[in-house]
Amino acid sequence: MSASILATEIDLETDTRIKAKLPIGPLLPVVGGNLAAPLVGGRTARAVNLDYAASAPALQAVADHVTEILPYYASVHRGAGYASQVSTALYESARQTVADFVGARPDDLTIFTRNTTDALNLLAKAVPQDGEVVVLDVEHHANLLPWTGGRHRLIPTAGTVAETVAALEQALTERPATLVAVTGCSNVTGEILPIGEIARIAHAHGARIVVDGAQLVPHRQVDITALDVDYLAFSGHKIYAPFGSGVLIGRSDWLDAAQPHLAGGGTVRSVDAEGQADWTTGVARHEGGTPNVLGAAALAAACRAIAELPEGAIEEHEAALSARLLEGLEQIPGVRVLRAWSDSTERVGVVGFTIEGHEAARVAVYLSAEHGVGVRDGKFCAHPLLNRLGVTGGALRASLGLGSRSEDVERLVHAVRTLVTEGEKLDYELIDGAWAPVGDDRPAPAWSTWGATNPVDKGSDCGF
Ligand code: ALA
Repeated sequence: MSASILATEIDLETDTRIKAKLPIGPLLPVVGGNLAAPLVGGRTARAVNLDYAASAPALQAVADHVTEILPYYASVHRGAGYASQVSTALYESARQTVADFVGARPDDLTIFTRNTTDALNLLAKAVPQDGEVVVLDVEHHANLLPWTGGRHRLIPTAGTVAETVAALEQALTERPATLVAVTGCSNVTGEILPIGEIARIAHAHGARIVVDGAQLVPHRQVDITALDVDYLAFSGHKIYAPFGSGVLIGRSDWLDAAQPHLAGGGTVRSVDAEGQADWTTGVARHEGGTPNVLGAAALAAACRAIAELPEGAIEEHEAALSARLLEGLEQIPGVRVLRAWSDSTERVGVVGFTIEGHEAARVAVYLSAEHGVGVRDGKFCAHPLLNRLGVTGGALRASLGLGSRSEDVERLVHAVRTLVTEGEKLDYELIDGAWAPVGDDRPAPAWSTWGATNPVDKGSDCGF
């Protein structure tokens, strides 16, 4: 592994490191880690990326691997040519690497998808139709909307993790369910749920469990065999492999019986003259069309790079940065760090927060325009949770990862403190409902249409 945290820092206790403000470097190099971001008014700063929870940058090792394999890119499962055979072997070995990374059982299926949303939609088609799916109200929409449509039961979470798990158990006792769909880690607060315990409760009541691992897997070792988790979904773009792949891993019986997720080439044994298909089983049933071999290989490369890190290195790196982030934000008057549960003890480097008297969407634009800091704002595609937390106008979220460094955290804390104590230096205006700095003179790369699409374009409802 090529960790760039300094040896002298590793020897120090976290608290000492924070108090002494010793620099903490990236744990692994990422592409774009030294990107220059223009600020409004002509200055330039290193772009501070605190939005790993939405889309993590590619690890350098992942980008290098993709460059290495690109000359061999060819048709997968469909050609006898040399490059085609190499590509097919690469795709299938990537599948095994990803399965091993999360401790999949030998008879689990590891199906490549586009992302977590795609993976959970796939599973939603495979859950026996008469079965009910139990979901907590903290979920990202990706682990909520696929289950709706008359067969889900939403469990309001309580103020503590313990009470929430008890409420889940009570719900399953009152009425059995087929599946419990739960996040491993909140994409809003970074708090981790006790997945092993929830799996035990689900199984004790005859239900299976699927874990939305989008936020957890990039930050913690997950072993689905040890946890006794039936299905796990996660995304390449949140685990430093932004090449359009995701994965669903889990038990084969429901998947082999389900309608193909993407009916098409590669999903059948045969088709007769009337178009009647004899669908195949296994992963091919759901991976219709030409597979994303580069995405799969990139995801596997990320898994390998993370697996090669010393045990506990990610946790240590993230804990040190998170402690500084939380300490810094909580010292600023008016800042509220969001928490779903008062008794949660484990969290990853994902911190949702609000600033009293400041609209989150405007703050996010200020952070970018005046400080070169990128965060996410809005309701994070987790509307039920934000509503429960009483956040009506949206919040901000800073999220860390392998390429994060202490200077990123310091820049954000400084920028928020400056906002609260001194205010904005620029003027801002609403254009078509979105905030923009007045006189935005930031240049875009020559190939980008960004300037033409100002103000900030955040797509549909998830920003709100
Ligand atoms: N699901 C991603 C997030 O939470 C996009 O930001």
